[in-house]
Amino acid sequence: MTAPALSPEQEALFRLIEDTREHVFVTGRAGTGKSTLLQHLAWNTSKQIAVCAPTGVAALNVEGQTIHSLFRLPIGLIANGEIDQSDPTRRILNAIDTLVIDEISMVNADLMDAIDRALRQARGRKAEPFGGAQVVMFGDPYQLAPVPPRGDEAHYIRDHYRSFWFFDAKVWVGEAAGDGLIDVGSYGAELHIRELVDIHRQADPAFKAMLNAVRHGRVTADIAQIFNDTGSRTPPEPVDGESPLITLATRNDIVNSINRRHLDALAGRSQTAVAEITGDFGRGDAAYPADKELQLKVGAQVMFLRNDTGSFGEPPRWVNGTIGTVTRIAGGTVRVEVEGDEFDVEPTVWERFRYAYDAGSKSLTREIVAEFTQFPLRLAWAVTIHKSQGQTYDRAVIDLGSGAFAPGQTYVALSRLTSLDGLYLSRPLRPSDIRVDPDVQRFMASALRPSAS
Ligand SMILES: Nc1ncnc2c1ncn2[C@@H]1O[C@H](COP(=O)(O)OP(=O)(O)OP(=O)(O)O)[C@@H](O)[C@H]1O
Ligand SMILES: [Mg+2]
Repeated sequence: MTAPALSPEQEALFRLIEDTREHVFVTGRAGTGKSTLLQHLAWNTSKQIAVCAPTGVAALNVEGQTIHSLFRLPIGLIANGEIDQSDPTRRILNAIDTLVIDEISMVNADLMDAIDRALRQARGRKAEPFGGAQVVMFGDPYQLAPVPPRGDEAHYIRDHYRSFWFFDAKVWVGEAAGDGLIDVGSYGAELHIRELVDIHRQADPAFKAMLNAVRHGRVTADIAQIFNDTGSRTPPEPVDGESPLITLATRNDIVNSINRRHLDALAGRSQTAVAEITGDFGRGDAAYPADKELQLKVGAQVMFLRNDTGSFGEPPRWVNGTIGTVTRIAGGTVRVEVEGDEFDVEPTVWERFRYAYDAGSKSLTREIVAEFTQFPLRLAWAVTIHKSQGQTYDRAVIDLGSGAFAPGQTYVALSRLTSLDGLYLSRPLRPSDIRVDPDVQRFMASALRPSAS
């Protein structure tokens, strides 16, 4: 692992999580190193931690389990319904010192409260928030929002919560006084918000300030003009050795049609790699970490979906998000050129984990319940902004098409870039592309006002 050394502010947060039992929400602008800190924690903690995330793909990224499978929760609204717990589930939840949740911004208030109740129940400590376990959450609410509830779920959330966001869950002090439908015991938990402030992805202070304006919906005419003057230009033809151009688009159908068009335009035979799947990987393509059927041709622009595990002592040849070009497909490997170097890429195995409790050592163990084997590659002339979350690119075409449809979408897209020089806009930014969720604004403003550190 060649992870960067932690900065002082990251180190301080690591110590806070390690040395106290506080519930910490680690937040910060895009590129401040939240994911880097989570990875460091997972490798270096001396506590019994369980790492989980709201979606299957997010869980795979942090080598954790989905929240629903860890807690054995039913899909959909949980409300104050009974939570069934088997003995093994109870034992696992009992052994956790610290529950780590990544992509917390996608967790809704109902699920947050269900986590609290499930832990109280399993640990037999009904009066204590999270049954006495420490909860550490990572994410940036200015980026991805929870999936909006619909129908009866939406009704329920509206009637019982201030908003659907995790920070408005009743378990948190200040929100607990509600309607009494959800029994949070005599007191709620205190949410300690800690913000990482140093940005590592971008270096130019002017660009950082512009991104911050997008994040907060404070884009002035001057800032919009700089984005548009810089970005409104025809993307150059690819040049050997230069980092390729990727298009970030709002919707799946746009992305698929861009990739299809480019693949069809290439001469040569198309070859398909079919994933090998064992065990239960959940249903539907959305549960898979890569394409079940990956179509490639020589000349295809591809993105790596995982970090190179390489050999000991060697720097990784690629990381999750690296873009390259296929130069050969033969003998069970795909040769990919990355900035002038060629690598033979082999299929890799994604492991779906489940926590288990080992009575002998009285500790949590992780077992593999399913495997997905495929080349760690996907066509990458285009990706959705949603899937570009967490990534870093030197250059990109940003295609907002008929308009950003979710709060934070334009911020996620622009903040992937390391510098303004790498920005290409398929059409100028419009004021309606910049959308900020008012509940996020309200919460973050009050949470971070007194002291951000
Ligand atoms: N202490 C550090 N020193 C040097 N580089 C760092 C440090 N921390 C993070 N980075 C680098 O900065 C980039 C962004 O880090 P990371 O992806 O962890 O940020 P993030 O807060 O998770 O961003 P996002 O909100 O976009 O997911 C990565 O390339 C990472 O390697
Ligand atoms: Mg991240």
